[in-house]
Amino acid sequence: MAQTGNFKSPARMSSLGQGAAPASAGAVTGGKPREGGLKGVDFERRGFLHKIVGGVGAVVAATTLYPVVKYIIPPARKIKIVNELVVGKISEIADGKGKIYQFNEDKVIVVNKGGTLTAVSAVCTHLGCLVNWIDADNQYFCPCHGAKYKLTGEIISGPQPLPLKPFKARIEGDNIIISKA
Ligand code: FES
Repeated sequence: MAQTGNFKSPARMSSLGQGAAPASAGAVTGGKPREGGLKGVDFERRGFLHKIVGGVGAVVAATTLYPVVKYIIPPARKIKIVNELVVGKISEIADGKGKIYQFNEDKVIVVNKGGTLTAVSAVCTHLGCLVNWIDADNQYFCPCHGAKYKLTGEIISGPQPLPLKPFKARIEGDNIIISKA
């Protein structure tokens, strides 16, 4: 005959007699406690998911930040420092003109005055703009704030604190050679 009563009701439980101990609320017969077991499983699952999400987040952050960091901090260029260097041909600088060349880590302006070369740093000592040689005025002129320098780099006028750093330049054959002063 089918049982229609509530098995969990106290009346039904007492009718089962003293020998039939009711299952305790948190226990599973023949196994570990239900709540404790479920909590353990849930905790392990959550921890695993946290690790997955954390790992994915770290990969996304790394792939996003890497190009940004590489852009902000460019790789250190290795410039081979030399005592002298052939930078060009004398035909590149007409009489009365100047031309800027790279020499080691410096930008150097070489001026040709009747076949005699003069070389100084082309970087204005005020805020680092590049100077131009103005042959009509016989001076270097910085277009940024008006600094003026003599052919050999000494200050004429302007806001610059220091003269232009001198270099040596000579002609060998057709070549222009810059060296340290
Ligand atoms: S940078 Fe040359 S005068 Fe200011």
